Amino acid sequence: MINNIKNRIKKELEQKLNDKFDQNVIVIVEEPKKAEQGDISIPVFSVVKVLRKPLPLVVETVKEFLGTISDAHLIAKVDSVSGFINITLDKEKYAALVINNYNLNSENYGSNKMGLNKTVCIDYSSPNIAKPFSIGHLRSTIIGHSIGNIMEKCGYKVVRINHLGDFGTQFGKTIYAYLNWGDEAKVKEHPVAELVKLYVEFNDRAKIDKSIEEEARKIFTELEKGNPKFVELWEFIREESLKEYMKVYKLLGVQFDSYNGEAFYNDKMLAVVDELKEKSLLKKDQGAMIVDLGEQIPPALIQKSDGSTLYITRDLAALFYRKNTYNFSEALYVVGNEQKLHFNQLQQVVGLMGYDYSSDIHHINFGLVLQDGKKMSTRKGKIVKLEDVLKEASKLSLKYINEKNPGLKNKEVTAEKIGISAVIFNDLKNYRTNDFEFNLEEMVNFVGQTGPYLQYTSVRIKSILDSIKESQSEIDYNLFTKDHIFEIIKNISQYEDIIIKSKEEYSPSVVAKYLLNLASLFNSFYAKEKVIVDDLVERHTKLCLLRMVKDILDDGMGLLGMSAIQKM
Ligand code: ARG
Repeated sequence: MINNIKNRIKKELEQKLNDKFDQNVIVIVEEPKKAEQGDISIPVFSVVKVLRKPLPLVVETVKEFLGTISDAHLIAKVDSVSGFINITLDKEKYAALVINNYNLNSENYGSNKMGLNKTVCIDYSSPNIAKPFSIGHLRSTIIGHSIGNIMEKCGYKVVRINHLGDFGTQFGKTIYAYLNWGDEAKVKEHPVAELVKLYVEFNDRAKIDKSIEEEARKIFTELEKGNPKFVELWEFIREESLKEYMKVYKLLGVQFDSYNGEAFYNDKMLAVVDELKEKSLLKKDQGAMIVDLGEQIPPALIQKSDGSTLYITRDLAALFYRKNTYNFSEALYVVGNEQKLHFNQLQQVVGLMGYDYSSDIHHINFGLVLQDGKKMSTRKGKIVKLEDVLKEASKLSLKYINEKNPGLKNKEVTAEKIGISAVIFNDLKNYRTNDFEFNLEEMVNFVGQTGPYLQYTSVRIKSILDSIKESQSEIDYNLFTKDHIFEIIKNISQYEDIIIKSKEEYSPSVVAKYLLNLASLFNSFYAKEKVIVDDLVERHTKLCLLRMVKDILDDGMGLLGMSAIQKM
């Protein structure tokens, strides 16, 4: 809401200044960092420069204009300090505006319509079958899911795609190993672990007996051709792996609209190669086919000398398929920093092919998860099993519950929700491209910048709201003239702007940090103010404030993919 006011001030001032001085001036309207500079501030230096008029004249003119703009009634005070015009809002009027606005939209508070009639495809999670679900895939899942939620809140239709890594020559080896020394029951029990074992064993045996490499290659070629026996085995591997990933998705509360992985594009690749040929973009390079991307970027390898296609070829086919099927306005790929080059190449090739939507492709990259400063997935040389990490988080939060509230009903269920939400929040509070430390003890704690802290704040408010049967009354807007209460109202009014910002940056951390701040503002308010007071009007006003804070906390946590908790 503050953004809307800022935009209106900007527009109207520019119009008025342009009319008066017949010059094209740009007015900058910002939110000052320091409270003593008011709520909105206008640095006028740039205006002075363009108009070539003395500073005092410009300041006076702007001040005068501020008295005539459509939001003039919201302004309590205008000061000017060394080239800045600082506007202080009328706290009562502003609070009234925020609360009315909230009451009108309480269901969809904070949502906007920027994505109306637009579809976004978000490719996230996308693990490789028969391989462990890595911590990187966990990050992709958490970030992608949240961006999806945020974009839905912005009115987009969101297509959530799990582009499974379910294709590649290694499946010839896995199938060979499974056929020769695999055990169906064991695979069904621990799909990924068993399949990895088979693959590792294959490689060990291949060192001694080279001929099995050849056998595996043959199997893969047959698989590509559609040999029913091998296709059936491949499907079995895919299904069992997916079952295991589904356990993680279930714990995280994540779903997808499509599980079309790399294999799905098998029969769509020839068309891509043909189109590249037709557009004279393919070049032969030592038997392979490449697209030259100039000096700056290495060429994109489209087809190997044996005719087989590559990761990027499948991504090209997938992109065209998505454009045709969903007609996206944006195609997002939530994948780690290490694939930067790949997505850069993808975008370049699509651009060279003449598709203007190449600029709608965005690689939503992210950093590493560290433990004691080292990449976590290789902890003690072992692969970390995500399901276990999430279970460990649940166990730890059960420990905290037992310390704080041992009598809580359904402790285990609540502990799981808290533990998993803690992992989610700990990831999302960091700007996504940053690496961060994974410290379970810390993230599951109820105090600190944690998920449980947010959940705890929401539960705390709920218990206050539940403790009293509220009677209808009017609102005392005068209460909002107190700085620490107005600060909360101001934050509430920024929710929509925050969501827009987090969409624009494709970073849920914007929402996460906002929620932390809102929770801490509430908690210091609660430390200072008695809510259940005898005065009916004051009580009602405070309860209204509490309800808004709680709704936003819950809504925001939902956007991040965290669970709502009733009691803890
Ligand atoms: N399976 C890939 C990996 O684990 C990620 C796929 C990302 N999506 C894509 N369309 N390339 O590295």
